[in-house]
Amino acid sequence: MIDKKIIEMVRDGDMVCLTGAGISADSGIATFRGRGGFWEKYNPDLYASSEGLLSVLHEDPCRLADFIVDFYSAILTAGPNQAHLGLALLEKEGFLSSVITQNIDNLHQRAGSRNVIELHGNAFRLRCAVCGKKLLLEKDRLKELCSLLASNRTGRRGVLHSLARYFPRCACGRRLRIDVVLFGEILPEEELNAAFRQLDDCRTLLLIGTSGVVYPAAGLPGYAKEKGAKIIEINPEPTALSAIADYRIAGNAAVVLPEILKGL
Ligand code: OAD
Repeated sequence: MIDKKIIEMVRDGDMVCLTGAGISADSGIATFRGRGGFWEKYNPDLYASSEGLLSVLHEDPCRLADFIVDFYSAILTAGPNQAHLGLALLEKEGFLSSVITQNIDNLHQRAGSRNVIELHGNAFRLRCAVCGKKLLLEKDRLKELCSLLASNRTGRRGVLHSLARYFPRCACGRRLRIDVVLFGEILPEEELNAAFRQLDDCRTLLLIGTSGVVYPAAGLPGYAKEKGAKIIEINPEPTALSAIADYRIAGNAAVVLPEILKGL
């Protein structure tokens, strides 16, 4: 049963939502931290930075292939869950202005959310690091890449060959890279500014499924609070941001969102 005050806050509108990996957990995508998290299996110092990824490519290419296959298999098979769908409905009904997400899995858009601000990029897009050109990475092509990497155990040359085939060169000559923000990289300025603009005007910030430890995204709730917003956190576990939340709903997002919608 959701607190009446929370339902009233949602009904009042002018709400923005910040999401993290936890919202996609009920779609079968592992979160990054905590038990069973992605970073428990793969060291983020190696797999979440460009220098780290390059060193794995040279020293343990089959492990890099495993990582890519593991990561993409999960997001290729996942579909939006009741939390993604609930947020899309809240936007459609005029209660929610936008979703600011740290996720790169495209599930908000697939659920029907229209105003999605992607702070960490999108795993279904390639980008040129020199001229900024972007290219969609089709699902079918990704599936092909995964089966090629899974079957091609011929070492560095095999992995490089597969990657070169699916990550083509840009017209400017540079090899395209996945359009996601790795550790130590700067967030896309336009997206970050758009996030701040949304928070300038919002009355309520819904915080769903983020541990709140990766900055600058983790700084956004504090900014919203300073601007006068109330914060509602939906997360089965307390987080680094729980202390500034005005309300906490301890539960899985895919269970809590339908309950909120039912209460409206
Ligand atoms: P984390 O893995 O750090 O945190 C996931 C959060 O989701 C935790 O607080 C969990 O308690 C919570 N959670 C788990 N299951 C849930 C459920 N069913 N419903 C709601 N919440 C649930 O993920 P993020 O905070 O998103 O960055 O991580 C932030 C960034 O760190 C990611 O964007 C990624 C990562 O390294 C980059 O790759 C740049």
